[in-house]
Amino acid sequence: NSNANATVFQRKTGIILALDVTDEASALEITSEVSGLIDAVKIGYPLVLGTGLQIASKLSKYAPVIADFKVADIPNTDRLICEHVFKAGCAAIIVQGFTGPDSLTECVKTADEFGGKVFVVSEMSHPGGDHFFTDDVSKEIAALAKKSDAFGIVAPATRPERVKELRAVIGGDLKIISPGVGAQGGSAADTIKAGADWVIVGRSIYNAENPRDEAMKVKVEIEKLI
Ligand code: XMP
Repeated sequence: NSNANATVFQRKTGIILALDVTDEASALEITSEVSGLIDAVKIGYPLVLGTGLQIASKLSKYAPVIADFKVADIPNTDRLICEHVFKAGCAAIIVQGFTGPDSLTECVKTADEFGGKVFVVSEMSHPGGDHFFTDDVSKEIAALAKKSDAFGIVAPATRPERVKELRAVIGGDLKIISPGVGAQGGSAADTIKAGADWVIVGRSIYNAENPRDEAMKVKVEIEKLI
């Protein structure tokens, strides 16, 4: 479905929904409820293993879909994975950067062929996320993402000071998407102030009694910054 791939990423609310529910009915129901309040929906192994990759084209009717597969392989395998993801209607893929320049370049090249985008994980948001992704390593990965013409990086909302440092490394050309808001303790406002373009919010929206109200709260929090 090449039309879905053509969906341009536009920053309207600054919110990406992390959709880690594992069944199709909930996935479609929650996404339709919050549609208009999110700029993209991020799917990963929980939902794709639960429902199949065809969920991507169904969700792309509501918002561009980002496949968070944290791809980390040799270039040939990366290419095969990226081809499946973009053919399925995803607009972007999240890949690891520690695999090095050749793997990263192959992902970007494959994405380009489909009009898709690549986000590179520079540092992870959980408490152990800075154990191997030390300050220097994540800065090197961010610099490599820029050199490889990736569309953006993934940086931790749980450490806004790191978002700020990584923004300084990549400058204004690349986007930053930041997970860790809500359930992991990060603040949407602090993360955007630190230089992120989008916050990624999962559990605090999809587990809420009313996901739309919860997404609206985040939207208003971000709007207040302007
Ligand atoms: P919650 O429920 O914590 O969901 O709001 C966060 C979502 O983001 C994913 N995640 C990450 N993805 N780099 C990534 O590429 C990260 O550092 C990172 N931290 C969290 C997580 O899998 C969930 O979908």
